[in-house]
Amino acid sequence: MLIKKPADIKSSAITSKELFLSRRGFLVQAAIAGAAVAGLAAPDFLLPSEVHAGEKLAKVQKSKLSIDEKQTPLKDITTYNNFYEFGTDKYSPAQYAKSLMPRPWTVAVEGEINKPKRYDIDELMKLAPLEERIYRMRCVEGWSMVIPWIGFPLNALIKRAEPTGKAKFVEFTTLLDPKQMPEQRSRMILDWPYIEGLRIDEANHPLAILGVGLYGETLPNQNGAPIRIVVPWKYGFKSIKSIVKIRFVEQQPMTTWMKAGPTEYGFYSNVNPEVDHPRWSQATERRIGEFLKRKTLPFNGYGDQVASLYSGMDLRKYF
Ligand code: MTE
Repeated sequence: MLIKKPADIKSSAITSKELFLSRRGFLVQAAIAGAAVAGLAAPDFLLPSEVHAGEKLAKVQKSKLSIDEKQTPLKDITTYNNFYEFGTDKYSPAQYAKSLMPRPWTVAVEGEINKPKRYDIDELMKLAPLEERIYRMRCVEGWSMVIPWIGFPLNALIKRAEPTGKAKFVEFTTLLDPKQMPEQRSRMILDWPYIEGLRIDEANHPLAILGVGLYGETLPNQNGAPIRIVVPWKYGFKSIKSIVKIRFVEQQPMTTWMKAGPTEYGFYSNVNPEVDHPRWSQATERRIGEFLKRKTLPFNGYGDQVASLYSGMDLRKYF
């Protein structure tokens, strides 16, 4: 068993230590993190007073692609977040993402396609029937959750867009608006806007979804309202939040994390227990709410469904 010191978690993946140490409220954050790492719920008085739950989503279908594992409680999913636009402490997104305005919202779909279009979010949410997809999520930092997302297959949007023969990759961009996303005022940690990408066959895979809700309701701001992607066989940072642009391109996109740490974060970032992060092992993970660590599964347990996407590829080279 391993209980990390709060400081270890904070300076993990991606947080610069100086910034971390200088942050207001360090002690409170450390206490919350300590409780979370020990597998306990953080004491209520330390948590943000409101968890932003959204509106109920109607007519949500079950999916055969859901897994049958114990779901992480809503409170953990909505307070133990990574959303750098709202701070680098685990509990900051829940506190500060209240400034995000998920309506009105549009998503521009453009690039190498025959049908470019700027979708209003409410129109986009009607593009395909909403489904519940209960997926594992494995963060590159070594923790995991089971989240009952609501969304629809990304391939429904791709089909509608009619990609041309030149569309080899899909690039996703998060909103850039420092008024709503206060940490975008500094580029000390990440370059904004947050950008992610998938190969077009990955984006077309039935497991890849556009997520618009969780636990039966629209997405809380801190989880990426109003729309994000969820790609469950990849490390969590590939699942970009609060998307305003989806662009079909010929060349592999330069992603935010590749820019920030090219030797640490690759384009593919498939969950792989055999390829360690340069600074820590990826062999095990701590499921939030559990005490003991568990083994990390190749492709986060979705290997039967996705391994063929990578046949013949050296996954150490293409990490
Ligand atoms: N998307 C944006 N725009 N900004 C972020 O900081 N963090 C990523 C990913 N998407 C991030 C993002 C990381 S590191 C993880 S682990 C997941 O979102 C966390 O999703 P959750 O907070 O809903 O669990």
